[in-house]
Amino acid sequence: MDHISSSSYDVYFEHQAQLELKKLTSHNYYSSYFVLVDENTKQYCLEQFEALTSTSFSYICIEISSGEEYKNIDSCKQVWHILTENNADRKSLLINLGGGVLTDLGGFCAATYKRGIDFVNIPTTLLSMVDAAVGGKTGIDFQGLKNHIGVFCNARMTLVMSSFLETLDQRQINNGMAEMIKHGLIYDEPHFYEVIKDLNAFRKLIARSVYVKHRVVTEDPKEGGLRKILNFGHTLGHAIETYMMEERNKETLFHGEAIGIGMILEAYLSFKLNKLLERDLKLITKSILPLYDKVIFKAEDIKEILKLSLHDKKNKKGKVMFVLLEGIGKASYDIEVEKDFILEAFDYYQKV
Ligand SMILES: NC(=O)c1ccc[n+]([C@@H]2O[C@H](COP(=O)([O-])OP(=O)(O)OC[C@H]3O[C@@H](n4cnc5c(N)ncnc54)[C@H](O)[C@@H]3O)[C@@H](O)[C@H]2O)c1
Repeated sequence: MDHISSSSYDVYFEHQAQLELKKLTSHNYYSSYFVLVDENTKQYCLEQFEALTSTSFSYICIEISSGEEYKNIDSCKQVWHILTENNADRKSLLINLGGGVLTDLGGFCAATYKRGIDFVNIPTTLLSMVDAAVGGKTGIDFQGLKNHIGVFCNARMTLVMSSFLETLDQRQINNGMAEMIKHGLIYDEPHFYEVIKDLNAFRKLIARSVYVKHRVVTEDPKEGGLRKILNFGHTLGHAIETYMMEERNKETLFHGEAIGIGMILEAYLSFKLNKLLERDLKLITKSILPLYDKVIFKAEDIKEILKLSLHDKKNKKGKVMFVLLEGIGKASYDIEVEKDFILEAFDYYQKV
């Protein structure tokens, strides 16, 4: 697969992505071009990016600080300030060259600058390739709440080139693997088995993973129903991620690591409450556990995580709602879960 297309966005892969980038930068489709980087993508990706653009291409570079703690309104102000100072108009283009923090924040800045300018995502982490850079969710964190402020807005196109992954360490690769595993678990059983069969062969499975996300998002762009299944592992995973960032800082978990724990917890809930076979719970646990360091949660940690999970955007009327698996490759959503089962799930994770 070298291309996924829908009425509102396109995703190109590998060689096809290179051709599209060359085309995009050869003609003056836009009045001016801006490229958003952080200090790491400036160091590791900008040169490769430039080598793939047309020789006549000129752009203004905007640099923000890397990391989830900078996915905030101050970084947005920096971006909007530079766009304004350089007279970016509604025909300007913002190219987001980076991981999920940068594509989320850059997308949000572009979607709101002068009521919206085009942006292109060039994801440079595995997590952003298979998840963050596709699907139209943009946004920033606010007052300790993840992705609390944002808009739905699709990138004009997303260009996925796995050569950018060369400079990522194994922890970052495993971070993205969580979302690939999730795509298989919720929608595509053969994909799950392929991903776990050889964790080093992930590159050739990136496009398939994006395709799962694309199928789900196309059916339900604004998360009225089916799209919720993409949140498998995220109800508790997001709360764990936020808690570790806020309360046990310096022990910050990567997004995929928190989602990995969330998927084990929610697979346990699926076994207890939603038809998942014990055999499959064991397989899921065995596939995810070795990818990430085990986190020890004390009773007070779990209490706070439960409180945070109430802030989840998927909840209704103060009840924590879950996406649970019916089996590998099939998920159901809007399932209310009693607190005692959640405590049991933490107990399972702790002891396994
Ligand atoms: N919009 C969505 O649908 C969606 C989906 C999933 C996750 N997200 C968001 O994505 C974010 C996490 O994304 P992430 O895991 O990519 O984190 P990230 O953007 O923080 O990138 C991880 C680190 O790798 C560095 N980096 C990026 N590319 C590199 C490269 N090629 N070589 C070396 N270093 C590189 C970055 O500077 C950063 O330090 C979270 O904020 C999460 O909320 C959004």
